[in-house]
Amino acid sequence: MIYAANFKTNHTRHSTREYLTKLQLQLFKKNPTDKVYIFPPLTALDDYETNELTIGTQNAYPVKNGAFTGEIGLEQLAEFKINTILIGHSERRDILGESQENVAKKFAFFKEQGFEIIYCIGESLEVREQGIDAVMEHLISQFEGIDTNYDNFVVAYEPIWAIGTGRTASVEEITETHNALKKVVNKPLLYGGSVKGANIAEISAIENVDGVLVGGASLKTDTFLELVLH
Ligand code: PGA
Repeated sequence: MIYAANFKTNHTRHSTREYLTKLQLQLFKKNPTDKVYIFPPLTALDDYETNELTIGTQNAYPVKNGAFTGEIGLEQLAEFKINTILIGHSERRDILGESQENVAKKFAFFKEQGFEIIYCIGESLEVREQGIDAVMEHLISQFEGIDTNYDNFVVAYEPIWAIGTGRTASVEEITETHNALKKVVNKPLLYGGSVKGANIAEISAIENVDGVLVGGASLKTDTFLELVLH
């Protein structure tokens, strides 16, 4: 299983360091084949001792360096040996206005650099209510311009209506969607959307769920450890 923590716009450099110190003291208890990723905010990227986990970036601009006010590029990631990136999160698509074309450009750039890419897709409630065919059509459209055969590629299915809402997709919905997605892209497939201690057992038991991408329940070491060590 993969356990990925997406801090979003939470935590500081100081609190991220404390979090990682506390987390790493417990990670020897995890299943040795499990992988843990932490995506702190950009200002909290740093030189951390990370034997048991991987630090990734929530975002970056597809450039080495240059005139892109407010963005960071490869040079800033290389300082901390970051080579894992989240691309296509629904908050970046819907709130920050990243088009599929921009997402695909970002993907192509970081693929060229050999980054491990955790690529997020997900449908709105409106699409979900139209049924699985509409959901799959939407999800497949989010692979437009993306090389789904890329080796270092993990997909995260995150229904937008389940993100940060406390409303998780049902086991049936996750099963049906992950089974259909695996036929399209045969890569590790994470589920994300209100994953927490109370539902990790049933979600991780689903056959085509290879891990989870977690926002809210990842913000405290205790609640994240509840998932990793369940
Ligand atoms: P959530 O966020 O766990 O708070 O629903 C998941 C995500 O956006 O990755």
